[in-house]
Amino acid sequence: LPLKSIVLVTGAAGQIAYSLLFSIAKGDVFGKDQPIILLLLDIAPMLPVLEGVVMELQDCALPLLREIVPTDKEEVAFKDLDAAILVGSMPRKEGMERKDLLKANVAIFKSQGTALEKYAKKTVKVLVVGNPANTNCLIAAKSAPSIPKENFSCLTRLDHNRARSQVAMRCGVPATHVRNVIIWGNHSSTQYPDVHHCLVNMSGSDLACFDAVKDDAWLKGDFISTVQQRGAAVIKARKLSSAMSAAKAICDHMRDIWSGTPEGEFISMGVYSSGNSYGVPDDLIYSFPVQIKDKTWKVVDGLAINDFSRSKMDATAAELIEERDTAVTFLGV
Ligand SMILES: NC(=O)c1ccc[n+]([C@@H]2O[C@H](COP(=O)([O-])OP(=O)(O)OC[C@H]3O[C@@H](n4cnc5c(N)ncnc54)[C@H](O)[C@@H]3O)[C@@H](O)[C@H]2O)c1
Ligand SMILES: *[C@@H]1O[C@H](CO)[C@@H](O)[C@H](O)[C@H]1NC(C)=O
Ligand SMILES: *[C@@H]1O[C@H](CO)[C@@H](O)[C@H](O)[C@H]1NC(C)=O
Ligand SMILES: *[C@@H]1O[C@H](CO)[C@@H](O)[C@H](O)[C@H]1NC(C)=O
Repeated sequence: LPLKSIVLVTGAAGQIAYSLLFSIAKGDVFGKDQPIILLLLDIAPMLPVLEGVVMELQDCALPLLREIVPTDKEEVAFKDLDAAILVGSMPRKEGMERKDLLKANVAIFKSQGTALEKYAKKTVKVLVVGNPANTNCLIAAKSAPSIPKENFSCLTRLDHNRARSQVAMRCGVPATHVRNVIIWGNHSSTQYPDVHHCLVNMSGSDLACFDAVKDDAWLKGDFISTVQQRGAAVIKARKLSSAMSAAKAICDHMRDIWSGTPEGEFISMGVYSSGNSYGVPDDLIYSFPVQIKDKTWKVVDGLAINDFSRSKMDATAAELIEERDTAVTFLGV
């Protein structure tokens, strides 16, 4: 282990960061004995707010948190990083065209990818959360050619956790008794939450999800749309986005990169598709089932895919291809 882990969180004055930073700083992600330096990036107008977040982190009096560096400068924020959690992005504003929003995000993630290339360790692990997360992640990876593409991932763990909990509530078991759900594709309403390989531990033994739930119509209908629409449902109820559960999912995702996934289990994350898995086209960041060992992920191969799943996996890939092809036209701008 390095003496201190250097961890960047961008969007550090925002809602997700407010839930996330405490968990990282107290050791939930990088280990209970791992001292941490936190670099906190936000845009200049947010620096006064960020100062308040820094004060609160100081006031937590945490044993592992050795240094906190708030900044609006990329050359400070990206220096010598071990881990980068890119939460900040351009939000959709009233009347903003989809294309203009994408263009603004390409500019941000091109710049941050370039900063990773210039200043971070080559072994840095990069997690992109800010939406459109898959495409932002691809742009960052393309802008940092000397860092392996495998070291970039985007967050679909929140969708994964939502799927797990929906099944668990239906079966009356804790969420931890449901494993191997899969989120395929984009972190959007075209994502495909797949339970064909999911196991539910009921009364001490593992049942296939369809046998545990005993309601195929629900699993192929309302279950899928509930998970797909969950983010919007939280916003409607709370009038704010799902910051607490997003922060929890970020911790799950990074902790698994650092420490590995449990034996026999897989999780979902958006990773670089090289065209070799499940017929997903190459050069996309696409959410797959993965297992992680020694800080290296592998797509879980050989799972049977039926026609129902195939068409949903292709639809979400098509969406990502379209978004990528528009995004790369902004790269030269
Ligand atoms: N992938 C997922 O599962 C998932 C889940 C929830 C939210 N999100 C996304 O995460 C992002 C953050 O959500 P939030 O609720 O914290 O939003 P927020 O608006 O509360 O905070 C975002 C912060 O990012 C900052 N920011 C904007 N541009 C920046 C830049 N170029 N560099 C550094 N900081 C910058 C803003 O100033 C703001 O402080 C949003 O894009 C949201 O859509 C993704
Ligand atoms: C992919 O998902 C992101 C995140 O929800 C969304 O912003 C984006 O619009 C989606 N892509 C397309 C092409 O719909
Ligand atoms: C299933 O849950 C029981 C507790 O209810 C536990 O003892 C057992 O180890 C679990 N089995 C698996 C495969 O996780
Ligand atoms: C990141 O890249 C390094 C090589 O620089 C490699 O050893 C490591 O396994 C990669 N991490 C992931 C998560 O793929």
